[in-house]
Amino acid sequence: MVTKLKVGVLASGDGSNLQAIIDRSLSGDLLVEVVCVITNRSAAFALERAKKHGITAHYLDYRDFSGREAYDVALVALLRSHGVELVVLAGFMRIITRVLLNAFPLAVMNVHPALLPSFPGLDAQRQALDHGVKVAGCTVHFVDEGTDTGPIIIQAAVPVLSDDTVETLSGRILIQEHQAYPEAIRLFAQGRLKVEGRRVLISDEHHSPLAHASISLSKELKR
Ligand code: GAR
Repeated sequence: MVTKLKVGVLASGDGSNLQAIIDRSLSGDLLVEVVCVITNRSAAFALERAKKHGITAHYLDYRDFSGREAYDVALVALLRSHGVELVVLAGFMRIITRVLLNAFPLAVMNVHPALLPSFPGLDAQRQALDHGVKVAGCTVHFVDEGTDTGPIIIQAAVPVLSDDTVETLSGRILIQEHQAYPEAIRLFAQGRLKVEGRRVLISDEHHSPLAHASISLSKELKR
């Protein structure tokens, strides 16, 4: 039997990235198992998605804890109880602490809706529009102690159009997130990511077309 990497997903909202990861794992080309989903918002639709697929879902209310570190101690305990090997932040709108990072060294990933290091933090798509950039995108990276500062695994670019709103740009970026995130997880699961300082080296890179940045810019521009 093939061993699958055990993934725990942390989400706060719609969970469309969670869905993309589940779909890719069910299709068989992503050898991971999402073993639990944890949210900090009781209304997160990600919870429904998890339940629909028979994945254990937990809601952890920050009001039950004395602070961020105490919250993360509980997160780590839950993740460990499921045997999680890789923690995937998928729209998890909460700052995590060293407690989680130390428990899963170089095994916490995040997706951010901007081409980092531009536009870290909240409202990345709004920041990109306000700045007037012509190219936006998403970044999948390992998480470190800064805000969206960790070593970059994959980026994908999209054009910014003159009539874009935050909604239209976010939608275009999200399509790329749904490709890039499962691909980054696949590379991790295959043991093909090596972190050297700020750089993430990908072995056998030509077997990951997405690992080369700007996967879809030219396609998008032709539309
Ligand atoms: C995604 O666009 C993700 O990049 C963003 O939240 C959205 C979650 O969508 N994350 C951040 O902004 C984190 N700084 P989803 O719930 O449909 O996956």
